[in-house]
Amino acid sequence: MHQQRSFLVLGSGGREHAIAWRLARSADNPVVYVIPGNDGIAADPIIRGGCPPVPVNDFKALAKFARNHDITLTVVGPEALLCAGVVDYFRQNRLPIFGPSKAAALLEASKAFSKEIMHSAGIATPQSEIFDNLSTAISYVRNAKHPLVIKVDGLAAGKGVVIAQDLATSEKTLRAFLANGPSGQSSKIVIIEKFLEGAETSFIVVTDGKNVATLPTSRDYKRVFDNDLGPNTGGMGAVVPAPQTDPALAKHALQRVIHPVLDELQQRGNPFCGFLYAGLMIDNGEINVLEFNVRLGDPETQALVRAMPDDLDFGLLLQNAAHGTLQDCEIPVETPAICIVMAARGYPDAPVPGDIIYGLTDSAHPENVKVFHAGTKAVKPGEFTTAAGRVLNVTACATTLSDARQDAYAAAAQIHWNGAHYRHDIGRE
Ligand code: GLY
Repeated sequence: MHQQRSFLVLGSGGREHAIAWRLARSADNPVVYVIPGNDGIAADPIIRGGCPPVPVNDFKALAKFARNHDITLTVVGPEALLCAGVVDYFRQNRLPIFGPSKAAALLEASKAFSKEIMHSAGIATPQSEIFDNLSTAISYVRNAKHPLVIKVDGLAAGKGVVIAQDLATSEKTLRAFLANGPSGQSSKIVIIEKFLEGAETSFIVVTDGKNVATLPTSRDYKRVFDNDLGPNTGGMGAVVPAPQTDPALAKHALQRVIHPVLDELQQRGNPFCGFLYAGLMIDNGEINVLEFNVRLGDPETQALVRAMPDDLDFGLLLQNAAHGTLQDCEIPVETPAICIVMAARGYPDAPVPGDIIYGLTDSAHPENVKVFHAGTKAVKPGEFTTAAGRVLNVTACATTLSDARQDAYAAAAQIHWNGAHYRHDIGRE
């Protein structure tokens, strides 16, 4: 008889709730733990292992937990842990883990490195220049055509990209980024990139470094307000599949983007195993890569796990990738799916925690609706307050995207707190 599987998911947001939920839904009913998780994840009965109080940045303590609990596979959610080397540590300690090494994760940790890899591998990406000096960068934007995209080189928790429509915004952004960094920390390098028009699509695969399982395409909505107005956020919603996706996209993206980057990293001695996320801009069949991420998207994942076939053994797929035994395949969309992000008042600038959430009862929603917790705190059993900028992810899947949309918005309308806000145009064509 096979031993029962158990999974450990690292991370604390809606993406990690969704990954854990999907792993727990396998037919063999595995035990799933999430570290550090959040109170909403801990209260979800399907996540039987809950959220053990192990410090997520203490790799030794994590490894001890994984060994003591005989974890079949650890799955890493956020880029920060990957870039800090959690995968390297687990591998050195012979513990099974899914995600890229620290060296391979540089693909997301440094946009300058990512551009260099793309140029070397012949991958189409917007023309760009790299600057480490404020006055040189300012002279460049004074002579450049706007809009321009200005990015900080390092990790910036979704706050490191500004689309500057005019020179005044470019100068202000460069001063802020090169002097202080996007969240107050100092940044040494910026990338100034040509702005491209087109349809943005998140193209995410599971890979063992050579073989690739293609996940359904998705689109996220980055601006805070309807009609793509207001500042960028971590993501206010997502749909799967990405609207108007050309059926040949997967083939082209694999040939022109995914395999070239995997081969390039392999040749440099840093093979990539993990979720590889290419942010694509598609215009008239032309594919350009805007960015690579070394993890699943948030909130794309929350919609992705709803769109995957119910009988897909997601855990086994990741186990095969981690052990280098993945088979090339394409995971189909069983049903279109949507995720609506409900945000705290003040998000994205200054989110306010501590507002009591009303109407949050799983049993009140139809079966095709699932609410993932991104940032909540339990004040008593079944009662939560807001605890982060992005608070809840209301997801639904249905035969058509339009039905999924209707059900997700009906569920979101039942949930409220002081200053809760969400976009009303997710999935609207
Ligand atoms: N939704 C964009 C990201 O996860 O980076």
